Amino acid sequence: MYVCLCKGITDKQIVKAVENGAVSVRELRKQFGLGNQCGKCTCMARGVLNEALENT
Ligand code: FES
Repeated sequence: MYVCLCKGITDKQIVKAVENGAVSVRELRKQFGLGNQCGKCTCMARGVLNEALENT
């Protein structure tokens, strides 16, 4: 599932980033450019991130 359409970032990529140590949306932004265009994905990205953090 796409989380960030502008950059083509999927939930799987976010989960992978968490597995590699990402703990904040800021890190995802730095890593993928997520949320840098329209910004609509930030809320959903946070949800996916939190869920992934709970599962690790
Ligand atoms: Fe992520 Fe637009 S959907 S910046």
